Amino acid sequence: GPVVGILPAAGRGVRLGEPLPKAFVELDGRTMLDRSVEAMLASAVIDRVVIVAPPELAATPADRLVGESFADRVTVVAGGAERADSVRAGLAAASGARFVLVHDAARALTPAELFVRVVDALRAGSDAVIPVLPVVDTIKSVDKDGVVTGTPDRSTLRAVQTPQGFDVELLERANRDAADATDDAGLVERLGERITTVVGDPLAFKITTPLDLVLARTVLASGVR
Ligand code: CTP
Ligand code: MG
Repeated sequence: GPVVGILPAAGRGVRLGEPLPKAFVELDGRTMLDRSVEAMLASAVIDRVVIVAPPELAATPADRLVGESFADRVTVVAGGAERADSVRAGLAAASGARFVLVHDAARALTPAELFVRVVDALRAGSDAVIPVLPVVDTIKSVDKDGVVTGTPDRSTLRAVQTPQGFDVELLERANRDAADATDDAGLVERLGERITTVVGDPLAFKITTPLDLVLARTVLASGVR
């Protein structure tokens, strides 16, 4: 069966603070949405992409949201109030898929190779795969007053990125129950299912704040991506 990318792009981008919904903010003349779709389809391991758009933009023809050469492999659906609602809407439009890759439009500089690594792991037998990187800062847990309660051993910690890859039936099952995890794998974890990791990529960082936008634009201007 096909591999379907689900691209949550329905967020408002409150922390970024731009006038447009975040996925429609441009980086060097192209929207984050368009760049994300191109990376997914250019990887050649994803057959089609379901864009989960802000509801007021969901009726826009695909060829006005993304480059013309991708539009015939793209479906657009309306997102929901929370990211998990948007993923559920995307999943509903991914019928017939064998594997799904859930990927944030906000990770607009993700290299095609990362999609390949995730799909390779799925094809090798994993039902749930996430890209991860070592954490660079020491992480503390704190109580409600901000007083430190512990220091987890950093060598056992990983920062999690997208694309997150799943056997479609597993993600559907994970999403059936109330979904409030900050990532999709968190839902699968609650089912007690095994989640494997592949090496992430620094360029798959999530553009969340104005500083991230400066970084993304500088990366593009430098020619690294
Ligand atoms: N997302 C979505 N539907 C929502 C919320 C988020 O599809 N209701 C998507 C965003 O468009 C983004 C990804 O999920 O591509 C990661 O979310 P985040 O970085 O938090 O984006 P926003 O929610 O737009 O940003 P903020 O939380 O600052 O408003
Ligand atoms: Mg958000």
